[in-house]
Amino acid sequence: MARSNPTFTCTACGAAHSKWAGRCDSCGAWNSVVEEAPLSAGPKALGGKGRAIPLTDLATTGTPPPRAASGMDELDRVLGGGLVKGSAILVGGDPGIGKSTLLLQATAAFARNGLKCIYISGEEATAQVQMRAQRLGLADAQVALGAETNLRDILTTLDAERPDLAIIDSIQTMWLDTVDSAPGSVSQVRAAAHELVTFAKKRGVAVILVGHVTKEGQIAGPRVVEHMVDTVLYFEGERGHHFRILRAVKNRFGPAAEIGVFEMTGDGLAQVTNPSALFLSDRDRPAPGSAVFAGIEGTRPVLTEIQALVAPSPLGTPRRTVVGLDGGRLSTILAVLEARCAIPFAGLDVYLNVAGGMRVSEPAADLAVAAALLSAREDVAIPPDMVLFGEISLSGALRPVAQTENRLKEAMKLGFSQAVAPSRSKLAGLEGMALRQMPDLTAFVGEMFGA
Ligand code: TYD
Ligand code: MG
Repeated sequence: MARSNPTFTCTACGAAHSKWAGRCDSCGAWNSVVEEAPLSAGPKALGGKGRAIPLTDLATTGTPPPRAASGMDELDRVLGGGLVKGSAILVGGDPGIGKSTLLLQATAAFARNGLKCIYISGEEATAQVQMRAQRLGLADAQVALGAETNLRDILTTLDAERPDLAIIDSIQTMWLDTVDSAPGSVSQVRAAAHELVTFAKKRGVAVILVGHVTKEGQIAGPRVVEHMVDTVLYFEGERGHHFRILRAVKNRFGPAAEIGVFEMTGDGLAQVTNPSALFLSDRDRPAPGSAVFAGIEGTRPVLTEIQALVAPSPLGTPRRTVVGLDGGRLSTILAVLEARCAIPFAGLDVYLNVAGGMRVSEPAADLAVAAALLSAREDVAIPPDMVLFGEISLSGALRPVAQTENRLKEAMKLGFSQAVAPSRSKLAGLEGMALRQMPDLTAFVGEMFGA
């Protein structure tokens, strides 16, 4: 057989390339494309073992996969109700965001609920993990610790111990002697993840892999193993903010897009059971440029504050700075305001920010974004007890969004008494909430800003 061509892989997004390039076409990262060493294929023979089993013959028909809860509700919800036996989970995040802290706390919580857990650190010595556990008040947790990076040894240990849950912190430090490249390279990370995922399925051991999101090209990021695991969670947060959000981006055993909210404190991560109150707690007096968006994150309504600042620009091309929202979405909304409502933003710098380090990706936030922009531009404050939601179409029409009632109920719980929503929103009347339904952006501008 001819030797297969070398393949090149982007360490940031995992895209395959047929030749080396200075910049990845797929994600735009520079210096991230590296050559991947081919896996040693081993002898190829026609196997006779493949066997199909009728779905109905599987013993557990009708019963959902067994799940173990940690008792940390914010984590269990993101996992889809708890940890599924034999599942492989990837937890990605920037270095220093708190992944090790979260997982040590989670491991201790699972252990408390009777699971046999092993925490293997490839980055810290057992004494260091122990010190962290002490600091987190978990010194007496029934968790086995290991400090090892040789995957062969780790698999042997796991096979002998047969835990219910194994944490591998981090996948980038693990290496296999059959792969001819340095730990952290695309081939090592992929091979190590493959071994661990296969082991998880075969032995019914749940495995959690920690992956650092990397900026430099030599270390493969978690994206390169996303496709191998059952569940992908990202732990995110803005530097300088103490909120951390655990977000499910893929989950074979539960809803994706679910979030869990935590707060980094002096002694570890604390769960935030009412994130709306948290994200709104920093709100100052009602000021122009601020609008409260009633959003849905996963299965839960969450209120967030959208802030805008509009100022005359000294630059030929005015600045558009966005934190916590998609920049393309801002451009679209500005274009719709200009084309459909004759409200230009040319010559004006626009800054847009979601308060508290939250990230909003729902199109339903459009109306709140437009409201914040208009409020900043016209210097008119939006009533402090008002929430907004609705998707803006290119024609300027407001499109109804899902779960109107849940959004309004959450807003009422937090003391809001007015809401603006698109016309035709599916809704049963809610006592105590003055709801204004608007067909399009022009009607909204006319009513709110008298233009
Ligand atoms: P860590 O879990 O080591 O991050 P990761 O594994 O994602 O690289 O968290 C490191 C940060 O968390 C560090 O900046 C200090 C902070 N921290 C606290 O604020 N309180 C704590 O109790 C702990 C253990 C860490
Ligand atoms: Mg760590």
